[in-house]
Amino acid sequence: ADTGALAGRHVVITAGPTREAIDPVRYLSNHSSGKMGFALAEAARTLGARVTLIAGPVSLPTPEGITRVDVISAMDMLAAVNAALSTCDIFIGCAAVADYRLLDVAEHKLKKVPGTTSLTLNLTENPDIIATVTASEHAPFTIGFAAETRELARHAHDKLVRKRLDLIVANDVAAPGLGFGADDNAAVLYHLAASGPDDPVMSHTLSPRPKQDLARAILDYMLP
Ligand code: C5P
Repeated sequence: ADTGALAGRHVVITAGPTREAIDPVRYLSNHSSGKMGFALAEAARTLGARVTLIAGPVSLPTPEGITRVDVISAMDMLAAVNAALSTCDIFIGCAAVADYRLLDVAEHKLKKVPGTTSLTLNLTENPDIIATVTASEHAPFTIGFAAETRELARHAHDKLVRKRLDLIVANDVAAPGLGFGADDNAAVLYHLAASGPDDPVMSHTLSPRPKQDLARAILDYMLP
């Protein structure tokens, strides 16, 4: 695609981890660096899009010319996504959203109980942000990510259909030097040949490369 291919389009991207509070000083989270989502934001901007980047807690500079909304938890991220949805043409769910949050967040710091050797945290399911987007009335073109350590194709196809995505970017996070935290990544893109769940799955392999180049290749593949 050439510069300007996304002119006039609003691209909304989630990136990074979410952080689920346990008490005022502790949380549950994951190792997502946000690099892939930030690279996608920059690539979409380069192609002329208006970009809203909804970022969990990451330490990355904001790419020039984009609107960044910082969030902490999955519930915050969902609220920010909903606020951006009415004008969204393309949604890219790159965030590693925590699947669960604490059922009750302690108001005060939890104290160690002498003589107690185990602790149980009660968790409740977080909403699936990307599935909320595809279920919305004017669903945008939606791209999801699937980080897998095995059976990449099967899990990616399952998520593509279950979350009603238009395209899924599957990463093998078990591959050394790629994925979480790394600067390089490889991916396999999957989409349905037509739109029904029983239609054949098409795949396109992108070899290992810097996340900036991978971001551009994903957008190029999507664009006519
Ligand atoms: O099911 P899994 O978490 O592997 O799916 C990954 C995809 O779903 C990613 O695109 C991720 O951003 C999105 N997701 C989401 N909200 C969740 C969980 C995952 O948007 N609660």
